[in-house]
Amino acid sequence: MTHENNDSAQQQGKETSQTPTTSRRGFLSIAAMSAGLVVSFGALGGIGAKFLTPRKKTGGKVELFIGKAASIPQNASAIVHDLSGAEIIVLNTPDGFKAFSNVCPHLGCHVHWEAEKKIFYCPCHEGVFDAGGMATSGPPADAKQKLTAAEIRHDKNSGNLFLVTESA
Ligand code: FES
Repeated sequence: MTHENNDSAQQQGKETSQTPTTSRRGFLSIAAMSAGLVVSFGALGGIGAKFLTPRKKTGGKVELFIGKAASIPQNASAIVHDLSGAEIIVLNTPDGFKAFSNVCPHLGCHVHWEAEKKIFYCPCHEGVFDAGGMATSGPPADAKQKLTAAEIRHDKNSGNLFLVTESA
């Protein structure tokens, strides 16, 4: 009985002395798992937030390939569209490629390039603009208006033309 009590006490003592070790291990294990979960949920939360929040506008510019420069002969024009769908007139001049909105600054009609006269012409009120987009006759000239210029880049190595426009 006494021996059993000693054994029991020793076992209890062992258990008593092992209990803190087991608890420490358990605590460290739980702490490690918790830390892993926090990191995992943090990463998932970050990924989720990326898809749930609206994309910020960068306000940057993008270049749209519009064709080969050789496809627009000297003094000729071509119509292209920017990202908003607006029409842009690309003109091949002796000074290089130029581009303008085809919207007349007077009352918004569409101008077109007349190659033989080397002018942009607006049929609504006979507005006339030179190859640089400056009004030279009609109501736009009276108001000292000009066509809105667009940015164009001619890559002479590849022969490609790009319309430089605001990103969507
Ligand atoms: S809208 Fe072009 S001249 Fe009036």
